Amino acid sequence: MKTNREKDAKQMVSGFSKLSKPEKLAWLAKHFFTSKPIDVVREFGSFWHSNLEAQKLFDGISENTITNFYMPYGVAPNFIINQKMYCVPMVIEESSVVAAASSGAKYWSKRGGFKAEVKQTLKVGQVHFIWQGDPLQLFAFFDQLRIKLKEGVKDITCNMEKRGGGIRKIELINLPEVESAYYQLRVHFETCDAMGANFINSVLESFGKILIDEVAAHNDFQGSEREVEVIMCILSNYTPECLVKTWVDCDIQDLGSFKGGLDATAFAKKFVRAVQIAQKDPYRATTHNKGIMNGIDAVVIATGNDFRAIESCCHTFASRNGQYTSLSDAYIKDGRFYFSLEVPLAVGTVGGLTKIHPLANRSLELLGNPSAEELMQIIASVGLAQNFAALRSLVTTGIQEGHMKMHLNNILTHLEASQKERLEALSYFANRTVSFIAVRNFLMEFRQKLAY
Ligand code: MEV
Repeated sequence: MKTNREKDAKQMVSGFSKLSKPEKLAWLAKHFFTSKPIDVVREFGSFWHSNLEAQKLFDGISENTITNFYMPYGVAPNFIINQKMYCVPMVIEESSVVAAASSGAKYWSKRGGFKAEVKQTLKVGQVHFIWQGDPLQLFAFFDQLRIKLKEGVKDITCNMEKRGGGIRKIELINLPEVESAYYQLRVHFETCDAMGANFINSVLESFGKILIDEVAAHNDFQGSEREVEVIMCILSNYTPECLVKTWVDCDIQDLGSFKGGLDATAFAKKFVRAVQIAQKDPYRATTHNKGIMNGIDAVVIATGNDFRAIESCCHTFASRNGQYTSLSDAYIKDGRFYFSLEVPLAVGTVGGLTKIHPLANRSLELLGNPSAEELMQIIASVGLAQNFAALRSLVTTGIQEGHMKMHLNNILTHLEASQKERLEALSYFANRTVSFIAVRNFLMEFRQKLAY
């Protein structure tokens, strides 16, 4: 019997990245899988792109790639945003999300559509450093330093400036709560249609070097005051000044009537209550916002943007007042129903994966090649549509009715049901609870009956 330690030692590998894809797969199949190596290799290989050039492109996006991981790419039509019609691409694995977004979009398309506005578009970066000395002296030197910093990165910023962007503000901040000698340069950028991560990080790293040199050369500083220790230079994914608002509103009586016997007024009140719960209770807020992110992430991924950055930013924003709260708001005023969402969305429509990934490129084309600001408005509106559809189900029929239909379909696919079996199952489970075992038993009985 091999001990775990011996097994682990066998699984250690060096030079893995240099192996060819088939070699990588063969090594994995040998060490980590119980089925026959040939089957493992075949299965992973079956997801390679049939076009060699396309596969090369995907392999080049990441490292140690052995195959491609497929995700469903759907579209949500009928989105009217600022009076313009969109068919929105969504990449998401969770069933019901695209259906919910489409249904929210269609509902509001008959009630004036979504209105959206970008409030600000600034991104942020930081140079974190330590400097031992009297803070007042460093602040006194800062106006002079700021000029040197800007001058020193002209070669990096000139192109961005031509496009209307660049550095907007450089602040010096002392945060003694981190450490008495800790400071940061907090830099605000306009990156136009680019998400701007590479641009920002390049500027920040140059700032780090200029900071060290300028402090070392400053006549008013003596001894250790001439030394700056740069800890790190990196953009911040918290971009509360890259903010978009989207909203829907209509007269309450125009909301219509709802399943579960709710009239428009009762629905509006119950809906507003549901939002208020999420505003006060972090347990509910987390799920409420997860529903919003279902919509946001799906479009962010489809357009080749960074969903981890968007996620972390939105959740920090949701806690900006000290308690995690709902990202959306709803209220009733003078007989009208209002529902809105305000979120920071630092996305780009040029650079990064947006142009490299052929489908991200197609997604942008599908959206009419929007600017970054227009994309922010689209993404936020999908988040709001998603939130609306989820809350509408929750306060009327409950969420399971819609979910279970999709769930039933997935189980039937898994159990390789024929078209005839599908139809029978759909009608059988119309008024029954769906579970994997219940569907499997139903199919077994149905198949047995047919055999006789
Ligand atoms: C499921 O992915 C999302 C919901 O739970 C959101 C919500 O509860 O508001 C339905």
